[in-house]
This record gives sequence, structure tokens and C-alpha cells, in this order.
Amino acid sequence: MHHDPALWTDPDEFRPERFLHERPPAQQYLPFGGGPHQCLGRQFSLLEAVTAVVTILRQGKFELTSGQFGGRLRPAIALEPDPHPRAVFSLHRAGPGMAADHDGTAR
Ligand code: HEM
Repeated sequence: MHHDPALWTDPDEFRPERFLHERPPAQQYLPFGGGPHQCLGRQFSLLEAVTAVVTILRQGKFELTSGQFGGRLRPAIALEPDPHPRAVFSLHRAGPGMAADHDGTAR
């Protein structure tokens, strides 16, 4: 199903950005299988994925590139900055100092 060109554009290309702006239809995207027989590690691997992203994010920093946050918020699902400031994320170079960052101490 995940390789069916009737369901996906360029199904064999690794393009995760295809999911950026819309959720894939539930009936055609079943990474952990579907129905009563599914992946036993589903919840564990989703937790692992969050842990991996958080680990990467802790090793870098976000910086605003377009102006500053003016303090104005607009109600959405949560409060959002208005207008949306743009930010870049830069990763620190891995080096001997990195080990100290992995022990959970705040920088
Ligand atoms: C992103 C990570 C993972 C993906 C995409 C994935 C995907 C899948 C899929 C598609 C199946 C087949 C389901 C079916 O037969 O319909 C499966 C089965 C299974 N997975 Fe995963 N899996 C992942 C991670 C894990 C992890 C971390 C574990 C264990 C810690 C795990 C344990 C299992 C087991 C035991 C089965 C066989 C279940 C059975 O036959 O009853 N998986 N997985």
C-alpha cells in the first residue's frame, strides 16, 4: 500500500516533507500495520522518536531571523505569536564537551 503509485506521488522516494502540511489519510498510511494484528512496539517506538528529537534539540539553539517577537499573541488552538517570527535551528558541533550535556544538567 505504501508503494502504490495510485495512492502516492513518487511512492519510492524518501520525501518526509510530503507530510508537512497535511496528515496522510488514515486508510492509506499504516506504518505500524492495521487491524487487530499490529506492531507490538508501536507506543515504545513513538516514545523513542520523541526522545531522539528532544535529544537533538537540546544540542542546538533556535534564533530569530526575522525581527523580534513583539509580544502580541493571537488565540488559536493555543496562543500564537502574531506575526509568526521566523527562526533557524543550529546544532552545536559534537565534541568532547558534548558528553557533559548528556547527563541532564541544564546549560
Ligand atoms: C518506527 C518503528 C517501527 C515500525 C514502523 C514498526 C512496524 C511494524 C509493522 C508494520 C509490523 C507488522 C504488523 C502486522 O503484521 O500487521 C510490526 C510488527 C511487530 N513489531 Fe514493529 N515497528 C517498529 C518498531 C518496533 C519496536 C521498537 C518493537 C519492539 C520493541 C517492535 C516490535 C514488533 C513486534 C513484536 C511485531 C510482531 C507483532 C506480531 O506479529 O504480533 N516494533 N512492526
